[in-house]
Formats: sequence, C-alpha cells, structure tokens
Amino acid sequence: MARNPTKPLLRALAGEALVPPPWWLMRQAGRYLPEYRAVRSQARNFIELCLSPTLATELTLQPVRRFGMGAAILFSDILLLPYALGQALDYREGEGPVLDPITDRAGLDRLRKAGALKRLDAIFETVRRVQRALDQQVALIGFAGAPWTVATYMVEGGTSRDFRRVKGWAYRDRRGFGGLIELLTETTIELLSAQLAAGAEVVQLFESWAGVLPEAEFVRWVIEPTAAIVAEVKKRYPGCPVIGFPRGAGILYERYAVETGIDAVAMDTTLPAGFACAKLGSRVALQGNLDPVLLLTGGQALEQAVAELRRSFAGMPWIFNLGHGVLPDTPPDHVAQLASLLAAPAPS
Ligand code: CP3
Repeated sequence: MARNPTKPLLRALAGEALVPPPWWLMRQAGRYLPEYRAVRSQARNFIELCLSPTLATELTLQPVRRFGMGAAILFSDILLLPYALGQALDYREGEGPVLDPITDRAGLDRLRKAGALKRLDAIFETVRRVQRALDQQVALIGFAGAPWTVATYMVEGGTSRDFRRVKGWAYRDRRGFGGLIELLTETTIELLSAQLAAGAEVVQLFESWAGVLPEAEFVRWVIEPTAAIVAEVKKRYPGCPVIGFPRGAGILYERYAVETGIDAVAMDTTLPAGFACAKLGSRVALQGNLDPVLLLTGGQALEQAVAELRRSFAGMPWIFNLGHGVLPDTPPDHVAQLASLLAAPAPS
C-alpha cells in the first residue's frame, strides 16, 4: 500500500522535487476573473468583501475551481491588520490603499491594540469554510504582510516611491519605530496562529518592500521580526511550513533564507534561477518566479518561459508561481494555457 498520500504542495515544501511541479499564483483571485468582478459588485467596498465569509469563501475557491491549482490562498489583504488596529483604511479605485498615516510614537499610542484580532473573526470563519470545501489534494495557504511592509503602508499612508517617511522615522528614532515593528510582530503572530487554528496548512509572509533597505536595516526590520514570527508560529504549530517573499532582496535573499527559519522562499521575477539553485535550494524550498507580464502575454513567449523555468528548477524542491501577483488585465485563457503547460509530465 502506498503511504497516506499527502498534498503535493506540502510535499514540495518538505523538500521533495515533484514532476509536474505543484503550482498556485499570487493574486490568483482578482479582477482578471469575470466571476470575481461579479462577486466584488455585491459588496459595498473591498474591506466588506474581505470581511464577508460568504463572499470571501467564494472568491478563495474561484480560481481553484476554474484552473485546478494545487493551493488556495485565503482571500483577504495584508492591510486588514492595520485596519483591525484601528487605523483608517480605504481602497480607492485606481489609487490603491489609502491610510491615515502614523508618523510618530503618539500615533502608535492611539492604535486600539486590545481585541484587534477579534475584529478579524470573519476571516477565520472564511478559513474554516474554505477548508471544509477544498478537494483532498489542494492545500490552504494563510498569509500576512511582514512587519516592515505593513509598516511602510501605515507610515506612508499608502504605496510610496521613496519611503522617506517610514525610513526617516526608523533612522531618526530607532526605538520608537521599533515599537511599531514590535506591535506588528506580535499581532502578526496572533493573526497567523488564528488562521492555522482555523485550518490553514501553510502560511506565507509577504515582504513586498524588502528591496528598499540597506543591509543593516534589512537585518533589523526584515530578518529579525520575520525570524521572531517564524519561531513563535512553529512553536505553536510544529511542522507548519512558512513561505517568505522578500521581494527585491537580491543577494540578501541568501541571508533571509538562512537566518529567518522559513521553509521556502518565494522568488521575485528578477532573481536568477542559477543563484537560487546554488545559494538557496539546499536550505529551503523554492517558489516562483515567472514574470507576470509573460502570463499577460501568453502564446509562445509564455510556453517557452515555462519550459525554461521547469528545466532550471528540475530536481529541486520547487513550487511554480509568478514572481509577483497576477496583473488585472491578464486573460483568463492564458492561465488555462499555463495550467495545461504545467500538467505535462515534462517541459516541451
Ligand atoms: O489571491 C490572493 O493572492 C489572495 C488575496 C490577496 C490580496 N492582496 C487581495 C487583493 C493577497 C495575498 C494580497 C497581498 C497584498 N496586499 C500585498 C502583498 C503582495 C504584493 O502585491 O506585493 C500587498 C502589498 C497588498 C496591499 C494592497 N491591496 C494593494 C497595494 C492593493 C491595491 C493595488 C492592487 O493591486 O489592486 C490592494 C487591493 C487588493 N488586494 C485587491 C485584491 C484582489 C484588488 C481589490 C479590487 O479592486 O478588487
């Protein structure tokens, strides 16, 4: 008799090289799907969408139902944590998220820390519902933003070009800014723990702005808080795999992979496969890293790039993904094309 079969995504995270590779896509739920737009229009705004277990469960399942990915990722957003902490948040069409900026210790003191996670109970209910609905072979991924990345949005009040406010605070008042990072580290541990308790099997930490810090600051604001989160989550949920996505970290991917205790690194589009295999692949599983613009492009360019990635990561514990999220104008047919390319036993 065969061993109790386990989900391919979990096997790859445990270090197995699988053919064909398991796959999922960052932002696999979203505006590129007509069925997403239909559900989106039923909620008054994006926060309400994330906090409706009925709608968020449906959105989590939509891409898996259509394309057969090996994982579902909880439908939510990294900025629901600052929202739960009492920071005003609004998602504006074409503008992205807008927050009421917190720029000093007084702003930090005004956050409502007590009971913050209670305000996200609906999300944990979504996790329970998705877990009940999922196919045996599909893994459920929970997630959070990593503290540095969430702090950039909280301090800048949205997406930034040069990060002068958040870096300015960190350089000027290391202890004060450290207080914000510590708050985010602690609440992120609770957020991920609650997702795992509700049925998530893997968690991913999104460090989308890892690539804007000098090395010493990268160690203090990216590696240290991430290591603290990973250690505590694994203490509470032994064996729980953690994926880290330090987007844009370049050669600092290596320190990140070695020093944070994560099980897998999500590679951004620019990370060379040769570097990843040589410096990272013996320590952690690899995930990535097709350029989202190739998925937008489709056709032969997509076919060749997928084959090239499959050759590059052959023999490694590897999960196929994009190097960043699915772009909103991606034709769903290209995702179907990708699914059939990945299902083939060997690259064409
Ligand atoms: O499908 C999934 O990947 C799960 C859900 C998910 C969303 N956001 C839904 C979403 C996940 C994992 C995220 C992560 C996230 N959110 C990150 C890290 C990954 C990355 O992109 O770097 C960041 C930085 C955010 C913050 C955020 N949320 C921004 C900057 C924006 C606006 C810009 C944009 O891409 O639309 C959002 C909105 C958002 N989050 C949407 C979705 C589906 C679009 C909402 C809509 O208009 O319908």
